Amino acid sequence: MKQINIAILGCGVVGTGVAKLLMEKQPLLESKIGASLNLKYVVDLDTKTDRGIRFKDGVFISDATKAIDDPTVDIIVELIGGKGVAKDFILRALKNKKHVVTANKALIAEFGNDIVKIAAEHNSDFGFEASVGGCMPVIKTIRESLVANRINSITGILNGTCNYILTKISNEGCLFDVALKEAQAKGYAEADPFLDVEGHDSAHKLAILASLAYGMRINIKDIHVEGISKITPVDIEFAKDFGYTIKLLAISKNNTDKVEARVHPTMIPTVHPLAHVNGSMNALTINADATGETMLYGAGAGMMPTASAVLSDIADIARNIMVNQNLNSDSKPVTRIPILGFQDSNVRQISIMPITEINTCYYIRLAAADRPGVLSKITGILGNCGISIQSVHQKGRQANGPVPVFMITHRAVERDVQQALKEISELDAIPENPVVIRIEEDITT
Ligand code: HSE
Repeated sequence: MKQINIAILGCGVVGTGVAKLLMEKQPLLESKIGASLNLKYVVDLDTKTDRGIRFKDGVFISDATKAIDDPTVDIIVELIGGKGVAKDFILRALKNKKHVVTANKALIAEFGNDIVKIAAEHNSDFGFEASVGGCMPVIKTIRESLVANRINSITGILNGTCNYILTKISNEGCLFDVALKEAQAKGYAEADPFLDVEGHDSAHKLAILASLAYGMRINIKDIHVEGISKITPVDIEFAKDFGYTIKLLAISKNNTDKVEARVHPTMIPTVHPLAHVNGSMNALTINADATGETMLYGAGAGMMPTASAVLSDIADIARNIMVNQNLNSDSKPVTRIPILGFQDSNVRQISIMPITEINTCYYIRLAAADRPGVLSKITGILGNCGISIQSVHQKGRQANGPVPVFMITHRAVERDVQQALKEISELDAIPENPVVIRIEEDITT
């Protein structure tokens, strides 16, 4: 049986999971692929800490270049993360004509186009299923299963850490920091959890999905990003009372002229299936012209779910290697699926709609001085800015303090909402900046 040699770079949570799964599932993988997957190297600077795996002599090493430059290695699996050495190692591997698999969403979101170009120049394959949604097969779904569709929109919960924190606060009323520490202990969070809680991890994932879905190059800096660190239990409680759940959503809409791509805390109707995606689970709805709605749900983070997605790419590449070994030596190797789903010549640069142009409903929470006429000033400003109010509530009045006022607007253009909030914030009667959460009433299912 043909042997395919694999090297894993980075033996942290996911790297350890991939090594374990690869070793434990040898017979199953062989029976499905028709080749033997041999773990030739696992590379990490720390080769002392016990990973609970018994490696053969010479497998667990600390020199990445030994693996990358070894002519017998077929597939390099980059699981170091970040944009430093990980990028150098990936490029060096591709230039050495090796196939590469990675879970590194930050790197792909920022440098994916360059990496794909270099992969194509060297006839190498590049797999990144594990970069979005953990074990949910979302890359393959968009790129392969929905090939005959125009994709209209993507709406997803793509960060397990944030979903875990929001679920804990909502169900147990626990503090933000306590929930974050638990998510870190469970191995969901990034090395720098700022990327999770401030929405950047979700934005990286959204950039990858929108590129594949619409055949476009995206500048990650154009994606509007807000995280969950300003969400309070008060907002979560108010949302519940009014039939909403707060989720950190990654939203992209394929409008005819401009594409929307944004990440922010969002109130969604509690009856929507995404509102019931709890803990570290991820989920995604894809609206497309032939299929209508497709929904995926799965573990978005963690050792084995992510390892499973990495193995799916290794298996695809191994199958390609098996096909190519039967070609004439002068034929160009076959990579059956274009890395970005579209043929390179059809990938376009498309601009993303500025957040000020979006049109949706808004939740606004204000702390207002408790005296006559304040509410009429606030509603007057909203009215002058063309914003129509759906409901206003005052709740939690305390002696001598500002009173919390909650409002829900009808659909409005964000630019007008921002102008109104600026004017409201300047009132003497408003001691703190208002909190605003966008509402998505009409996610299709
Ligand atoms: N930090 C990520 C999350 C891991 O919490 O979802 C998976 O990409």
